[in-house]
Amino acid sequence: MTRLLLLNGPNLSLLGTREPGIYGADTLESIERRAAECAREAGCELLCFQSNAEHVLLERIHQAAVEGVGCLIFNPGAFTHTSVALRDAVLAVQLPLIEVHLSNPHAREPFRHRSYFSDIALGVISGFGALGYELAVRAAAHHAARTPRAG
Ligand code: DQA
Repeated sequence: MTRLLLLNGPNLSLLGTREPGIYGADTLESIERRAAECAREAGCELLCFQSNAEHVLLERIHQAAVEGVGCLIFNPGAFTHTSVALRDAVLAVQLPLIEVHLSNPHAREPFRHRSYFSDIALGVISGFGALGYELAVRAAAHHAARTPRAG
């Protein structure tokens, strides 16, 4: 069974109460539950992980490479705009990446317009709120089904 890893970066643990006008009213737990359901429907397993710490996210990405993850779905939060280290980790493990954002960073402050991930991602889904995670899971499952497994 294809295994997908959903990673969420800093402050996304606060979804539900964090700037609901921008990020919506759904909690991360409910988003993860719906994404996992979507994965099951597509015949995949979804692992979920959130951290506010860059080094913890780095280690989780490293681990993904040895536990048979077929695709990363990642909302790096503010690290989107700052983290060369997380970009390098994704490149190092050579796993396909789908970048997700609840908001549309391009319609926001100029410092959110640069992403360290978009040019190494299969695709980017942003601006559709919590629905974006379900779309990303479907896209990841679709990609994994068409891609022969390495090894
Ligand atoms: C975000 C957009 C980022 O700019 C911001 O720092 C976040 C959330 C989003 O999902 O819209 O933390 O990644």
